[in-house]
Amino acid sequence: MKKNILLIGGSRGIGLSVATLLHDTHNLFIASRTKGNLDSLDVNHIHFDATLEKLDLTLLPQDIHGFVYCPGSINLKPFKMLTSDNFESEMNLNFIGMIKVFKTVIDRLADKSSVVFFSTVAVKKGMPYHSSVAAAKGAIEGFGKAIAAEYATKFRVNIIAPSLVDTPLSKRLLNNDKKKEANALRHPMNRIGTPDDIANMVVFLLSEQSSWMTGQVIGVDGGTSTLNVN
Ligand SMILES: NC(=O)c1ccc[n+]([C@@H]2O[C@H](COP(=O)([O-])OP(=O)(O)OC[C@H]3O[C@@H](n4cnc5c(N)ncnc54)[C@H](OP(=O)(O)O)[C@@H]3O)[C@@H](O)[C@H]2O)c1
Repeated sequence: MKKNILLIGGSRGIGLSVATLLHDTHNLFIASRTKGNLDSLDVNHIHFDATLEKLDLTLLPQDIHGFVYCPGSINLKPFKMLTSDNFESEMNLNFIGMIKVFKTVIDRLADKSSVVFFSTVAVKKGMPYHSSVAAAKGAIEGFGKAIAAEYATKFRVNIIAPSLVDTPLSKRLLNNDKKKEANALRHPMNRIGTPDDIANMVVFLLSEQSSWMTGQVIGVDGGTSTLNVN
């Protein structure tokens, strides 16, 4: 039987890599504001804005075996330049939007299903100019672990905390060779991540191969959160 996987965001970036890896072997339901680069893949696309709409359950199968929430932000600014509206909108996209859609679909999650959320390396490791995104992703880590405990016998919940990955979201940090090189050198392995580096972990967490993993925050970050090589 093909598993039904719901990806919120899968039109580009890490979500698109997940869709590319899974579309042949899974039934993919991808909910995002645009269809992006999904045209060549065999997926069910649902127009959906996680900050504005309720997901239409009639478009989804009765049993969902995997749920992934991809929308996120990188809004790096000194704290003094951030307004409370900045904090609110980042919280809305990363966390409140996630809560709302997760609440909508939770009764469709099949026994032994798998849920994947995204955090950032900047929660475990304090980084300047990351206060708003670290706050929003910190909420995801706390929520994800609490839900993993509450539903431990029903479904698994794990959280991936990447460092910098080359996707449309990070393009302003990587839009010339100098920035690319400087960012690569900030990582112990001297490179930034590719969407597939992260998508491979998503695929693993959605599969039975990770069936004894829940409530974990997994750093896929080239060693950034734990190594100091300087
Ligand atoms: N890239 C990095 O360096 C990095 C680092 C640490 C953590 N992360 C986290 O990893 C996750 C994936 O990142 P990414 O780089 O792949 O992001 P991305 O390139 O911005 O892709 C995000 C996906 O989510 C969808 N999306 C965005 N806003 C949405 C909304 N309001 N409603 C529905 N769908 C929405 C986008 O599609 P549409 O635009 O078509 O809606 C897109 O498919 C995020 O949570 C991010 O915070 C990324």
